[in-house]
Order: sequence, then structure tokens, then C-alpha cells
Amino acid sequence: MSVRPVRYGLVGHPVSHSLSPRLFEWLHADDQAGCTYELLDVGPSRLDGFLATAGRDFHGLNVTVPHKVAVAAMCAERTPAAALTGAVNAVRFRPTEDGAGLALHGDNTDVGGFALALGLAHRPPRVAVVLGAGGAARAVVVALAGLGTQEIRVVNRSPARADALYRALAPHAPGLVLASPEDLDAACAGADLVVQATSAGMTPGSRPPRLPWDRLATDAMAMDLVYRPRWTEFLAAADAAGKETIDGLEMLAGQAVGALAFFRDGPLPADAAVRARALAARLRAGAHPRSDSP
Ligand SMILES: NC(=O)c1ccc[n+]([C@@H]2O[C@H](COP(=O)([O-])OP(=O)(O)OC[C@H]3O[C@@H](n4cnc5c(N)ncnc54)[C@H](OP(=O)(O)O)[C@@H]3O)[C@@H](O)[C@H]2O)c1
Repeated sequence: MSVRPVRYGLVGHPVSHSLSPRLFEWLHADDQAGCTYELLDVGPSRLDGFLATAGRDFHGLNVTVPHKVAVAAMCAERTPAAALTGAVNAVRFRPTEDGAGLALHGDNTDVGGFALALGLAHRPPRVAVVLGAGGAARAVVVALAGLGTQEIRVVNRSPARADALYRALAPHAPGLVLASPEDLDAACAGADLVVQATSAGMTPGSRPPRLPWDRLATDAMAMDLVYRPRWTEFLAAADAAGKETIDGLEMLAGQAVGALAFFRDGPLPADAAVRARALAARLRAGAHPRSDSP
């Protein structure tokens, strides 16, 4: 008798360039599980209908642009990370109370993915600067607050988005403060971590703000969430200023490790950080799962 594989997928629009299938194929190869991972290009007008029946076919789904906030609103149950950020990047399906259907349960594994990428257990930042106030920045703020960062200084181009982030997260992040781009110099003073969480740097000509690197703590770390390109102008500038750098692939790999644990309704594996690091290294090397799986 043939056993049907467990099906996972990524819902977004577009999805064709996603690295998630590679990440999941590696994770499954490591676990020797019989799973598939599919790219599901679903536009906004089809999202409701797709999710209404997806639980019959899929064990769990990752969610990406532009659906993270819309799907969060559709979830009957959300993890604390998903509730705080108001966005989900992973859903699984649970029977409704009356047993008549399946309800969505959502998580935001960007939060844990960021923490894994930073290796915070070893070196939690005391003062962090976060550039940006979109969905990714929200996940970063929630993660930093959870790890006890005393001051989280958010700098965003548009005041409206920064204000919305502040209203949503200030009650849960006691050290959260906003600074305007004009005050970037002062905001960087003494910080031991700076996170580039804007989408600037993804397209030629769009640049995140220039940082006054000498205002940061001497041993400050710089992390860019943009992973395409991997080596961004921001990281190059940090490196030139003598700062330790972390690229966006580390968090991308970390969120995938977290998503698989969520799909399986289990805890993060004890070696989650090691797994995420290894996955990021494989992506960085441009490896393909079928050619370099152990
Ligand atoms: N590595 C990972 O695992 C991971 C996970 C999630 C996201 N990301 C990456 O993180 C980035 C942000 O994603 P998101 O979901 O937060 O996007 P988003 O919700 O659309 O927010 C975009 C943010 O970038 C800012 N921004 C855009 N262009 C800018 C520019 N030229 N100068 C200054 N600020 C600019 C926006 O500021 P305004 O409010 O002023 O428009 C806003 O704060 C993307 O590159 C995404 O790929 C990476």
C-alpha cells in the first residue's frame, strides 16, 4: 500500500522565486520524512476560496507577500507571535469545535527566526536600532522585546507606519521608542545591534539610510533582513566599518525551521540554531538540495 506524502506549500503572489522549497527539501531530507513542498501562486481574489478547502490537501502552509496580514485576520487561533505582529507566515489546520470543518491556526515564525539568526542566547543586545516599521520590523521588535533588549529604537521613513507599529507593540515592548530619520545619529549612539528591516536595497537604486557607524558600540553587530541580494550595500558598509554582519538568509532559514516545528505541532528542535545556520550556509553556497543532501 502506498503512503500519501505529507503536503506543505507556500501561498503568495508571486511565489516562483521563493527559496522555501529548497529549505524544506533540506529539512525533510535531514528528517527522512516523506513530504512534498509546493509553490501555490494564489492572488488576493482567490485567497478566501483557496484556504476554505486547503486543509483537505495540505498539512501546513507558509504564507508570504501579499497575504500575511489578510491571513492573520482569517485565523481562528493565533500564536502570541502572530497576534502581536498581526501577521502570519505559517498556518496549519485544526478541526472546528463542532467537528464540521477545519479552522486556521496561524504563527509568525519570523519572530523566532530572527532570534535564531542573531544567536541571542549567547549575546542579547542591550540597545538595538531597527530601520523600518513594516511587517518584518514588527517581528524584529517582538523578538527583541522577548529577549529582554532594554531599548529598541525604531527609525522609519514615514511617520504613519512608525506610529502604527508603536501603538501595536509599545504595550508589549517596554523599551520601544521611535526616532525620526533626521535623528538617526542620536538614535545610533551606543547601540550594540542595528537591524536593516526596510525593503530598501532589494532593487537597484533603493538604499536604506547611511548609518553613522562610529556612533554604534565598538562591538556592534549589523543585520540586514534583505536576502536578495545577499551581500547588500548595508552589509558591505557595516563590514567596512569593522562591524560583525549577519545576512538575511540566516533569518530566512530560522523561520523555516520554526515553521516545520509549528506544522508538526512540536517544539523547536534543540539544535534549531545549528540547523538554521547550516541551511543558510547551503543557500549561500548556491547549493541545491538534490545535489548536496547528506
Ligand atoms: N530574511 C527574512 O527571513 C525576511 C523575513 C521577512 C522580511 N524580509 C525582508 O524584509 C524587508 C521588509 O519586509 P516587510 O515585510 O517589512 O515589508 P513592508 O511591510 O512592505 O515594509 C517595508 C518597509 O520598508 C520601508 N522602505 C521601503 N523602501 C524604503 C526606502 N527606499 N527607504 C527607506 N525605507 C524604505 C518602508 O518604509 P515606509 O513606511 O516609509 O514606506 C517600510 O517600513 C523585505 O526586503 C523582505 O524581503 C526578510
